[in-house]
Amino acid sequence: MGICFSAKIKAVSTCSTGGNLNSMSRDAIDLSSSSINSKFSSTSIPRSEDEILHSSNLKSFSFSELKLATRNFRPDSLLGEGGFGSVYKGWIDEHSFSAAKPGSGTVVAVKRLNLDGLQGHKEWLAEVTFLGQLHHSHLVKLIGYCLEDEHRLLVYEFLPRGSLENHLFRRGLYFQPLSWSLRLKIALGAAKGLAFLHSEENKVIYRDFKTSNILLDSNYNAKLSDFGLAKDGPTGDKSHVSTRIMGTYGYAAPEYLATGHLSAKSDVYSFGVVLLEMISGRRAIDKNRPQGEQNLVEWAKPLLANRRKTFRLLDARIERNYSMESAFRLAVLASRCLSAEPRFRPNMDEIVTMLNDLQDSKGTGGPRRSRTCKQNTDSGNKEVTAYPRPSASALFT
Ligand SMILES: Nc1ncnc2c1ncn2[C@@H]1O[C@H](COP(=O)(O)OP(=O)(O)O)[C@@H](O)[C@H]1O
Ligand SMILES: [Mg+2]
Repeated sequence: MGICFSAKIKAVSTCSTGGNLNSMSRDAIDLSSSSINSKFSSTSIPRSEDEILHSSNLKSFSFSELKLATRNFRPDSLLGEGGFGSVYKGWIDEHSFSAAKPGSGTVVAVKRLNLDGLQGHKEWLAEVTFLGQLHHSHLVKLIGYCLEDEHRLLVYEFLPRGSLENHLFRRGLYFQPLSWSLRLKIALGAAKGLAFLHSEENKVIYRDFKTSNILLDSNYNAKLSDFGLAKDGPTGDKSHVSTRIMGTYGYAAPEYLATGHLSAKSDVYSFGVVLLEMISGRRAIDKNRPQGEQNLVEWAKPLLANRRKTFRLLDARIERNYSMESAFRLAVLASRCLSAEPRFRPNMDEIVTMLNDLQDSKGTGGPRRSRTCKQNTDSGNKEVTAYPRPSASALFT
């Protein structure tokens, strides 16, 4: 278990112990092989833990307060679970921050460290450090924390629509398939969050970009949560930092998996995987699918490279009120993000610009012409789009 109680850190100390290489968990885990362990960044300026906890404007909660706020972590208020632990719905008074009666005051999400899990103090401190300092409309707001004996908890604003993962992959009345325009909106919001982290002033690498870490407010504004693996990016003219390989199977960039070299472009790769999940409605790794389809990137790559085949990627549950041109352009963007060579991947600012353009064209394909056709369906006369004929034009740069 990777608990590190070092008092000196910059943002995330790199001391950690082994993980489970064979696990196909969708949670963030240690993906390293032992050969990588010695490659740690030496550029960190140590900051004491006390300094971090006191310099932030975060409220320090006692364990008993959070127990009360969540009604003793009642199973029926469980919002979700991840590698760090379980997240519960709770209520606090908006002025005093003390526990409030359910249904009154402010709703919060309380994440509690699973003491038997693979994550620990290090990941908890990383969240406090980054979310205590970084504020943006596309990052979740951290309200406070609890550090008491072995207990490690985090208190966030409550995001009523939960995770993108649930909306893409869960079935049920509450989880209706997301429309194309909502998918674009969510992709754009998440891209803005990542662009903010990568900006010159922050230079932070998120390292665990995936659908379960993208939360949605009531208007489907995307907010990045879960900063347990976030890491300060390279300084000076360095292109990467060397770290122990942490992340989630199916999302981690190949060069990071192979060398431990982490850069902003590693996040861009993960962004490409999430785009593919949003386009296809398929999970990055899905052991329930037939051989050859279990790894989304491997399955999708030949389809992305061929304009005539791209339509086979599309999530059949999306209502067909968008143009194939819009779908192609998103697929091309995903394909560029997934380039094996990091320097061929766009940066997050470029991605934000491209997604803005796509959104402005309202999914109709923008300046390029898209062809639509009328088709009779069971549900009546519906306008649907036809995918273009084979074209010799190069789609990939
Ligand atoms: N602020 C929140 N509001 C609503 N649901 C949340 C919130 N934070 C987390 N969740 C739910 O809990 C799940 C796990 O949270 P996360 O922070 O990713 O935990 P972990 O660090 O254990 O991976 C999310 O995927 C989401 O479903
Ligand atoms: Mg998570």
